[in-house]
Amino acid sequence: MDKELIIVLDFGSQYSQLIARRIREQQVYCEIHPYNTSAVKLKEMNPRGIVLSGGPASVYSEGAPICDESILTMGIPVLGICYGMQLMAHLLGGKVDASARREYGFAEITIDEPTLLFQGLGDKLNVWMSHGDRITSVPRGSRIIAHSNNSPIAAFVCLVLGNATMVNSLLCALDSSKQASKFSVDEHNAQTDEHKANDIADTTRNLYGLQFHPEVVHTADGGKILANFAQRICGCSASWTMRSFVDEVIISIRQKTKGKKILCAVSGGVDSTTLATLVKKAVGDNLVCVFVNNGLLRQNEVEGVINNFRRLKIDLHYVNAEEQFLSRLAGITDPEVKRKIIGEQFIAAFEAELEKIGKIDFLAQGTLYPDVIESVSVKGPSATIKTHHNVGGLPERLPFQLIEPFRELFKDEVREVGRELSVPEDILGRHPFPGPGLAVRVIGEITQERLDILREADAIYIEEIKKAGLYDEIWQAFAVLLPVKSVGVMGDERTYENVIALRAVTSTDGMTADWAQIPHNVLGIIANRIINEVKGVNRVVYDISSKPPSTIEWE
Ligand code: XMP
Repeated sequence: MDKELIIVLDFGSQYSQLIARRIREQQVYCEIHPYNTSAVKLKEMNPRGIVLSGGPASVYSEGAPICDESILTMGIPVLGICYGMQLMAHLLGGKVDASARREYGFAEITIDEPTLLFQGLGDKLNVWMSHGDRITSVPRGSRIIAHSNNSPIAAFVCLVLGNATMVNSLLCALDSSKQASKFSVDEHNAQTDEHKANDIADTTRNLYGLQFHPEVVHTADGGKILANFAQRICGCSASWTMRSFVDEVIISIRQKTKGKKILCAVSGGVDSTTLATLVKKAVGDNLVCVFVNNGLLRQNEVEGVINNFRRLKIDLHYVNAEEQFLSRLAGITDPEVKRKIIGEQFIAAFEAELEKIGKIDFLAQGTLYPDVIESVSVKGPSATIKTHHNVGGLPERLPFQLIEPFRELFKDEVREVGRELSVPEDILGRHPFPGPGLAVRVIGEITQERLDILREADAIYIEEIKKAGLYDEIWQAFAVLLPVKSVGVMGDERTYENVIALRAVTSTDGMTADWAQIPHNVLGIIANRIINEVKGVNRVVYDISSKPPSTIEWE
């Protein structure tokens, strides 16, 4: 069956993947690809529609990302968002200028023409704007379909292209009975006016531009706008589900691996456990799961993971590499160096295990989209923030072919995949835990003693959060051991001991996060218990920073 696909071309916006995710929420499969993907390659992928994402650049700036211009004449509907809209206007002969001031935040737009894009919506929409440049003149053959006080052109639709050759070829394609060569641009614009009079929803070209961001939750009807694009304009049937995603991945893993063995490195977290369950379903006993204890796991975590895999009836090769990891990390304080060493040690541990198991050609990884976008900018020009060991920390040359079925997904989407596969809820509900584990939560030098202090404090924190019924509301909660000592008093004694920071955030995808408003009395209980029960800690602080500008982990 012809797969219904929408492609987002990424021009470097932090929101690019959100667009893909919102479209998937409308039950239309959507993938993200680099902005410079050629029109030929795009055509091969046979998308029903293309979205040009936002991005930090200005269309006139040197080195601005520009897509293959012929994408706009392939006969495939295109939706340009923010920079994507400006680029589309620029390529089609419109004019883009720097705004007198940057428009950032809520804006009310008025819909001037009820095109398919805005069908089913009111006359006024509350939207989220975030742009410096703006369009001051739309390409010929286009209509302004919405405006706001600050943005006279908040949305446009391009009915026909303003270039005579293109218009002619378009007309030929549209209506072979017409002698295209006889048409001039002006004649054609006159015809466009006629179209408008006859049918304001005439969207022959199907090129739409939005100055605002329909993908962010702040745009009230953003989901409907994207649904209108995918369904009404691109003609998708909205029949894609997580079930169909799972079925397709299973088939593609079988086809790719052809009966060969697949190594799956599991950590016990949501992603790798769901991945192992999925691969097991695809290839049965050809799945080889390896669980490496890197000495950086939390209290009782080793036993918990082994037990969970027993419940899932998946065999686990347990490798205790505590000694190797910790000896290489001794004296290291730089977080990126820690990650690099941990990445290398993981590979070394797998290689040693493979000597026993035998050769394996494939490595399955639970890499998620935020890992990709925040580590190495694989698909677009977004900035590198941290290297996450399971992406950026891997050596360039691997002895395996990678299988990363969740590369396009967010954590909550992986949880949905897990539900499809009947992974127990207590495993799916686990807070994310980074690959480098406690190494990035023991700030500064990692020693066994410092790890043990952090483990004890963290266990108390999580226990109390669960007791207070807050665990499931929080995206991620953990303790951090700081590299400073503080003065305290216990009994009549002066103490000079460690500080523990408590971090808890709410989020939907880890890309942005707010600090969690844990009630003060709960924080009080936690701090009291940690100071009284964990030897070597005399102070507890609570982190009230959001992401951005902070990150979730401290390192
Ligand atoms: P940050 O700290 O970048 O974290 O806001 C976003 C999410 O990613 C997790 N994280 C990591 N995961 N390897 C991982 O596998 C890493 O090096 C890493 N660093 C951060 C973090 O726990 C949060 O869920």
